Amino acid sequence: MAPSPRDAGPELQNAMTEVADAVNRTIERLLPETDLAEARLFNAMRHGTLSGGKRLRPFLAVQAAFLFNVPSARARRVAAAIEFVHCYSLIHDDLPAMDNASLRRGQPTVHKKFDEATAILAGDSLLTLAFEILSEPETHEDPRVRCELVRALAQAAGGHGMVGGQMLDLIAEEEAFDLGTISRLQRMKTGKLMAFAVEAGAILGKAGDPQRKALCNYAHDLGLAFQVTDDILDVEADPQDTGKDTRKDEAAGKATFVSTMGKEQARERAEMLVNQSVAHLKIFEGRADMLKELAYYVLKRRA
Ligand code: IPE
Ligand code: IPE
Ligand code: MG
Ligand code: MG
Ligand code: MG
Repeated sequence: MAPSPRDAGPELQNAMTEVADAVNRTIERLLPETDLAEARLFNAMRHGTLSGGKRLRPFLAVQAAFLFNVPSARARRVAAAIEFVHCYSLIHDDLPAMDNASLRRGQPTVHKKFDEATAILAGDSLLTLAFEILSEPETHEDPRVRCELVRALAQAAGGHGMVGGQMLDLIAEEEAFDLGTISRLQRMKTGKLMAFAVEAGAILGKAGDPQRKALCNYAHDLGLAFQVTDDILDVEADPQDTGKDTRKDEAAGKATFVSTMGKEQARERAEMLVNQSVAHLKIFEGRADMLKELAYYVLKRRA
């Protein structure tokens, strides 16, 4: 089922739906149903990856790859690999040891539908599958490009990236972080993987340094803005709209932009970051219009 980013303009909405449909087909192909004795693992992986989602990171990867005329089948493989890492991070994030959430993308979380051990294994296995996909020749014929993708994803997802950010996020339940630390936390837990998504397009297209830098700066600001709006939605949205549990952050006593500066100032900060992110795309002129639209959509989104 393709998501419908209902707060996006029609052109962006069509473009996002097209990418989501294509990436869903790629995920189906990479994760087929099986009747092996360990089918429970694959069913949990399929539940964690094929139950909706906005497919924002795949969209970033596909749009960035488009800037450098990368063949779309390659971009879709990388997009699926990024979505696998994102879905693994959500499966583990929802576990009782972390956010203890029951609802994700309008469905029971993986540990609720299956069990905790299966959810841990499904996450592990999605993470490793992502690297397997990147390392295969169908992703790119040049082994140096494949190696660069593998290294960049490892850096974005690991201790100095998403996982490190998740550690800080848990510590934020006990310590009163200042804004600088919250900002670093959010750039790590959310910004790094989004930055990898656009960087991957540039790596596949063997883009030059100024282009890569511009895209990474765009995604870092966008990722931070995206997490600020996620924290606002946690406070004011309805699970029927977001498809996930809300009011988790305050209940956990977590330090976020919203808890530290209040909703209105957090919204202003997100707006400033989005404008800043769009300014980084100037060098691509009209070819980056969809990436710009996506940034404005992040401010308006209700899910
Ligand atoms: C949720 O990400 C986790 C965060 C980093 C805030 P998304 O809001 O992109 O979740 P899906 O993929 O659409 O479900
Ligand atoms: C999680 O942030 C970001 C990840 C890296 C998984 P949140 O805990 O705020 O994400 P949601 O609100 O559960 O989607
Ligand atoms: Mg969390
Ligand atoms: Mg969570
Ligand atoms: Mg949240």
